[in-house]
Amino acid sequence: MSTLTTAHHKTNPAEHPLTGNWKTLKIGGVTLGFPIVQAALSGYSDWPMRLLARRFGASYSLCEVMLDQFLVSLRDRQRNRHFLYNSADEQPVAGQLMGAEPEQFALGAQKLVEAGFAVIDINFGCPVRKVVGRCRGGYHLSQPDVALEIVRRTRDIVPSEVPVTLKMRRGMDDTSESRDNFYQILDGAFAYGISAITVHGRTVEQKYKGPSRWEFLREVKKHVGDRTILGSGDLFTAADCWRMIEQTGIDGVTVARGCIGNPWIFAQTRALAAGLPLPAPPTTHEQAEVLKEHWDLAEQLYGPERVGVMMRKFGIKYSASHPEYIAVRTDFAKIHHRAEWYAVLEKHYSEDRPGVYPPPEVHRVQGSTCADGCEEGA
Ligand SMILES: Cc1cc2nc3c(=O)[nH]c(=O)nc-3n(C[C@H](O)[C@H](O)[C@H](O)COP(=O)(O)O)c2cc1C
Repeated sequence: MSTLTTAHHKTNPAEHPLTGNWKTLKIGGVTLGFPIVQAALSGYSDWPMRLLARRFGASYSLCEVMLDQFLVSLRDRQRNRHFLYNSADEQPVAGQLMGAEPEQFALGAQKLVEAGFAVIDINFGCPVRKVVGRCRGGYHLSQPDVALEIVRRTRDIVPSEVPVTLKMRRGMDDTSESRDNFYQILDGAFAYGISAITVHGRTVEQKYKGPSRWEFLREVKKHVGDRTILGSGDLFTAADCWRMIEQTGIDGVTVARGCIGNPWIFAQTRALAAGLPLPAPPTTHEQAEVLKEHWDLAEQLYGPERVGVMMRKFGIKYSASHPEYIAVRTDFAKIHHRAEWYAVLEKHYSEDRPGVYPPPEVHRVQGSTCADGCEEGA
């Protein structure tokens, strides 16, 4: 493996590491190949976002997290159909699940399998206060016995050909007890037949403050040997993705905030892997094509009444690739209908101008929220 001297938070896109040292990524019996994938993102990683990520080069993607109770008692099927929607041309895609109680958790997993997800991912990472307060998500990192019971029951109920995976933060906090709990869950989960574990190098307590600790990922990979580990945290440029792989030796990375409104990051990682120079950021015309397509896909999924509000947050994130970021962001933030979306495109994107790489600071300020799929009875 080549050695790197750059610090991982150095994000000048012109500087990038050597990218030849990666292995084909596999999750159980599912071969993904390219080791750079799209993370689970509540409120974002819906079918349109996933489809675009895949088209631009992500080898795999994860759906936004869903609550087991929500899946088991799904009341308003039409209104909530978008949560479970997935299509053949985006496979393999994972459904992600969160909950408190092992039996119900396993039933929720069954619903995700029936909905056609190729992998079932268990969320032990969410730091949102109302989630942790209800003993879900990241809370499980403080109770290894319950966490492992969830893993065992989920693995038992999901058909053996469907891989079950896990997402963890590096602990509840920085105590040694928290660290011991992390390793107990990690080792126990692999012993129960989990196919891969994604580790976000922040603690639950830390939420999104401060950096993701990449040294911890290296330590985890060393600990597990041949088992599959994916990394998460502070992947804002194509170079960051390769740097994480090179510096930690992990098997793959999950791009999160860095790919919202920025599917081009996947094409950029592919170009670097092929030994090509980093592609220029998409021009405003190239961006406009994707903005139109994203709207069309979202309209198919949500319908003309709901699509506007859904697309605002994406428009805001896409605006980070535009040279007039603030003005474009302000206009996208007011969108209700298709005509307004197209008016923003007409105003800011009709002249073909060079784009910009989204500055990492734009992503860094965002924490996670919980979309409706995390709510009881949604
Ligand atoms: C808005 C938002 C929603 C998220 N939703 C989920 C989720 O549903 N499931 C999950 O496992 N992680 C979720 N995450 C965590 C990300 O997948 C990722 O681990 C985290 O953002 C760190 O990566 P980054 O620093 O590169 O963004 C979310 C993060 C954000 C910012």
